[in-house]
Amino acid sequence: MGKKVSVIGAGFYGSTTALRLAQYNIFDTVVLTDIVEGKPEGLALDINQSRSIEGYETEVIGATTTAEGAGYEVTTNSDVVVITAGLPRKPGMSRMDLIGVNAGIVRGVAENIAKHSPNAVVIVVSNPLDEMTALAQIATGFPKNRVMGQAGMLDTARFTNFVAEKLNVPVGSVKTLTLGSHGDTMVPVPSRCTVGGVPLTEKLSVEEIEDLVTRTRNGGAEIVALLKTGSAYYAPSAAAARMAKAVIEDSGAVMPVCAWVDGEYGISGVYLGVEAEIGIAGIRKVVETKLSDTELAALKGAAEAVRAKQADVQSL
Ligand code: APR
Repeated sequence: MGKKVSVIGAGFYGSTTALRLAQYNIFDTVVLTDIVEGKPEGLALDINQSRSIEGYETEVIGATTTAEGAGYEVTTNSDVVVITAGLPRKPGMSRMDLIGVNAGIVRGVAENIAKHSPNAVVIVVSNPLDEMTALAQIATGFPKNRVMGQAGMLDTARFTNFVAEKLNVPVGSVKTLTLGSHGDTMVPVPSRCTVGGVPLTEKLSVEEIEDLVTRTRNGGAEIVALLKTGSAYYAPSAAAARMAKAVIEDSGAVMPVCAWVDGEYGISGVYLGVEAEIGIAGIRKVVETKLSDTELAALKGAAEAVRAKQADVQSL
């Protein structure tokens, strides 16, 4: 049977994710859906017409669905589903301001996925991320290892970019890490950051690192403020597509993702940004890394902040 990934929501995030997934040339089919009639079909046609130029065979199928679930047959038996449906932020909004409206959207999407692709691995990107990931797990009823969220890959990539620019070095020489939530309680982890193998703390002062940490934490809002309409999608789609690739290739890659944490770091029963090994069954295992006392305390703080919100989403 062919490899199939479905991307739900054909906005900026969904359409760029579908394009990246198609260009990997590792899936037989990429399905792109939206509730706006004709939008996914039009985008699919456009992407497919780039195949001979870019040299890939994966076919993108666009399909209009209703929020109630009509049209979902096209997604049947997807191996991976990426949920991008939902509103993006406007300038001045926090991700949490989206919770009410996006919860309704994500719940409906998740129920339809469960019905048509009962064995899929689900990657959630809709915001607020940690809460929408928890909600998607509840609404699909899938095992927790088969539902994860994209945040850490993106936040880490932003941190890496800022460090590379600051030091004027290639991004490839920089390794950074962020854990925690995709929001105010994001936990950038300077103790795990290196530049050419040298600890970041030997390259920059505490104040300089703190500035980059703050800019990383506000990385999404900085772009929302510049765009004025809509939020980031190039780096976010790169992150989500890499996660889907790791799943379908059963690669075992260790990535910072939003995963169910059950005992690691002394934290239990919450979806939280941690490093995890990714494979065909989703999260193979959460990988604990050594943290400084301050970083561990911040991660525990983040866990409690998102735990409270995740309890709320059950009723949304
Ligand atoms: N089913 C499918 N698609 C839906 C549904 C639904 N029930 N509800 C809304 N959509 C679609 C919209 O029609 C729109 O095309 O989701 C798309 C969202 O696209 P954009 O507005 O361009 O937003 P985007 O930048 O793609 O962000 C999507 O990702 O980063 C997060 O905060 C962001 O929650 C937002 C999501």
